[in-house]
Amino acid sequence: MEQVELGWDDFWAEIFRVKHRGSIPGIQHYDEMVVEFCIQTLNLKKGDEILDIACGAGDHSILFSKRGLRVTAFDLSETLIEFAKENAEREKVDVQFYRGDMREMDFNQKFKGAVLLSHSFGFFNHEENKGVLEGSYNSLGSKGRFLLDLMNPYNLPKFQRNWTTMEGGYLLTEPHVLDAPSGVLRGRPATFVDTEKDRLVLMNEDAMANNDIRMYTALEIGEILEEVGFSKVEFWGQTKLPRTPYSANCERMVVVATK
Ligand SMILES: C[S@@+](CC[C@H](N)C(=O)[O-])C[C@H]1O[C@@H](n2cnc3c(N)ncnc32)[C@H](O)[C@@H]1O
Repeated sequence: MEQVELGWDDFWAEIFRVKHRGSIPGIQHYDEMVVEFCIQTLNLKKGDEILDIACGAGDHSILFSKRGLRVTAFDLSETLIEFAKENAEREKVDVQFYRGDMREMDFNQKFKGAVLLSHSFGFFNHEENKGVLEGSYNSLGSKGRFLLDLMNPYNLPKFQRNWTTMEGGYLLTEPHVLDAPSGVLRGRPATFVDTEKDRLVLMNEDAMANNDIRMYTALEIGEILEEVGFSKVEFWGQTKLPRTPYSANCERMVVVATK
């Protein structure tokens, strides 16, 4: 069987974020619950402006728009932004999608709410991670709220080697490994068996790099959010209603910071 190696954008964006995510049972229902949670928790009303940072293929952005919000959404991946635009067109919603880097956000107090969903935080060194929170703060208008949906560092999912059947083939994912001394969750290698093209798709060096996630505890992230200017920081244990208090064994660590 032929073997090919793909880079970050082709491998992670297309195979993982679009095909793999789309094959998760109940994912649409889950997204709807997450969006409802965000709208209620950020206290958003029809016509309010929201920023979806690292929006992936736009699944949440589109649902926010369907709920009457004015949505701006960006992601580093050109491939995902193309998917997002096609999805929005198909769903007949108007979302301002563009390709962008969360380290370079330059919005001037425009939004009532901002979200960073599915643990899209901690990809960089500490200063850059802090810069992302600073950029998020600057994007919000007075009393605006920012919601970060993170894995709970005290209750990480039990990562296992896993085969998933999905459109066009099978994906084998290796478990993430937490490097405890550095607090970094090491990225997971994966291999795609492409049954349509009869080939094995591997990740190249570029796809393997930029895959690590610096994990933060509630104390650490609360402190940084206050340092960048947020006046109030709250924690919840899941991204669905009813809101449950954050604790060590919760499913998620949802951080809500108010300007
Ligand atoms: C875990 S996915 C989440 C996507 C989406 N929010 C969701 O919930 O489906 C992380 C996303 O972060 C994006 N990303 C990685 N680095 C980025 C950066 N520097 N700026 C913007 N987006 C970035 C990736 O392309 C990917 O779509």
